[in-house]
Amino acid sequence: MELCVALDMPSMDENLTLVRSLAKYNIWLKVGFRSYIRDGNIFIRKIKEINPNFKIFLDLKLYDIPNTMADTAESITSLHVDMFNVHASAGKIAMQAVMQRLKKFDNRPIVLAVTALTSFNNHDFKEIYGLDIKQKADQFAIDAYESNLDGVVCSAHESMSIKHMTSNSFITLTPGIRPFGEDSQDQQRVADLEFAKNANIDFIVVGRPIYNSTNPQDKVKKILQHIVAK
Ligand code: C5P
Repeated sequence: MELCVALDMPSMDENLTLVRSLAKYNIWLKVGFRSYIRDGNIFIRKIKEINPNFKIFLDLKLYDIPNTMADTAESITSLHVDMFNVHASAGKIAMQAVMQRLKKFDNRPIVLAVTALTSFNNHDFKEIYGLDIKQKADQFAIDAYESNLDGVVCSAHESMSIKHMTSNSFITLTPGIRPFGEDSQDQQRVADLEFAKNANIDFIVVGRPIYNSTNPQDKVKKILQHIVAK
């Protein structure tokens, strides 16, 4: 299981200070909507300057018509990020168009599909999608698998059944992780590290429990120790 730290702080300087403090760790960094829209590609370049071995997950959750999604996937690949994502609800044709377009690259990023946002509870999700989260998340995961994506973004509670229905090698990345039972804030479907380990998850995303802690470096160290501990 790998740790991906969400860089969602209020300014690029604060994010870069956090990144510098984590430079010695072998971790992934998640650049999301807020940071990317505000700071753009310069932010990605600056992260790589701090440590070229940092892996970057560009979390823009693409949702558009198939041709625009494929064009954008190609542009993202030219940024040399290591992973990005699309919404599974954009549909199989759009996901297939993305993967088809990326075939020409020898070294393409990992592509994941978002199933159900971890901030949804079942009631609110059902109002939009018409089905229970579990049922719909499973369906979205199968769609992504059949469209040749590498994996999905899902909650820790869905990871096991998704792997069971697709393949053990189909990647699961789970936000909403509160490593040692920290406050869930706006996240509805949270899990701690112990749960994540038992659920055979490939990547955990942790934001506020790290960057809002009094000592983010120490928190990352403890998480990494817990991940490797038997
Ligand atoms: O601060 P916290 O640990 O809740 O951050 C979770 C991160 O994961 C945020 O950047 C959020 O945008 C992202 N995310 C999520 N749920 C998804 C996909 C991404 O919370 N389904």
